[in-house]
Amino acid sequence: METEIIKIGQDCVSSEDEKGLMRAGEILRMGGLVAFPTETVYGLGGNALNPEVSVKIYAAKGRPLDNPLIIHINKFEDIYQIVKEMPEAAVKIGEAFWPGPLTMILYKAEKVPYETTGGLDTVAVRFPSHPAARKLIEYGGGFVAAPSANASGKPSPTRAKHVVEDMDGRIEMIVDGGEVGIGVESTIIDMTVEPPRILRPGYITQEMLERVLGEVAIDVTMMRDDSGEAPRAPGMKYRHYAPSGSLVIVEGEPGQVADYINAQADLDNKAGEKTGILGTREQLEQYHADVIKCIGSREDEAAVARNLFAALREFDEEKVTKIYSESFPTQGLGQAIMNRLLKAAGHCVVKV
Ligand code: TXA
Ligand code: MG
Repeated sequence: METEIIKIGQDCVSSEDEKGLMRAGEILRMGGLVAFPTETVYGLGGNALNPEVSVKIYAAKGRPLDNPLIIHINKFEDIYQIVKEMPEAAVKIGEAFWPGPLTMILYKAEKVPYETTGGLDTVAVRFPSHPAARKLIEYGGGFVAAPSANASGKPSPTRAKHVVEDMDGRIEMIVDGGEVGIGVESTIIDMTVEPPRILRPGYITQEMLERVLGEVAIDVTMMRDDSGEAPRAPGMKYRHYAPSGSLVIVEGEPGQVADYINAQADLDNKAGEKTGILGTREQLEQYHADVIKCIGSREDEAAVARNLFAALREFDEEKVTKIYSESFPTQGLGQAIMNRLLKAAGHCVVKV
């Protein structure tokens, strides 16, 4: 299949943009697949209410069939068509954070196919804020299933070129809207349990949700892999975000972290490995390795989140075989950053 790539502006207001998105919407209505930017990461969209389309999405990603998709809507009231019941608390967080990077899990209405929910009686719903995503959902029929547009297991795409790497030839169209703003996927909160429980941390933090909801729990498997429990978001159980090289997170006082990483990289180099370091601007000058990547300043967590997946992909491009990363505090947005890093590293953390 030939994949068409169209470029649109950041706020997609030109008539060219409009025409392109209408065509993309038409592809979705006809049962095709279109990758598009959202405020978090690029999504791989298809009609959420057509079971055959969901099957095509799994195939394009190489994704296991028990890993459910998120349904994207463009109007708050549309959620009532796809959920069985809408608890008061869900209305509250919808009003507080939608449109935006938050996904709610609720009991599904009958018309949502089990193919889309991976066989579950619950459905994940998200109302994104990105202007191109919103138009595409509208033109595409209102209910767009969209997992992140990466091949299963790879870091989520934050630029159109990442989508091209993984999806070229597998889908009808890629809408290139430039670099995304947030860079980690939406926060997922399960609203079918009491207290509501975060299954995947994101830009909307536990603290922000607690301000609206009161107590909010977190899935114990989010930050550790030794709980003996299975993650409640099926997708979180798979090896994920992983670069091809092995990744080790090093935690400790900055000087000691640098000493440890440099010594390890030195040994690795002697053993014929290609080494890489993922560090913050404040510490970058202390490192020695084949490839050193700056993920941003420690003072700017939003930049760290935005750069994380692109940096992991770049290590692959440069064929780095051993990667070391600094560690980050786990409050606020740091919870999402560390959750993704830990998964990418297969929870391999060294404390120095
Ligand atoms: O920011 C995002 O959420 C992006 C953009 C494209 O919107 N989408 C995204 O989708 O990250 P995906 O499919 O890569 O991740 C969805 C996660 C998976 O871990 C999946 O297991 C979980 O949501 N999920 C979906 N439906 C669920 C359900 N009914 N119950 C529990 N977890 C669910
Ligand atoms: Mg994903």
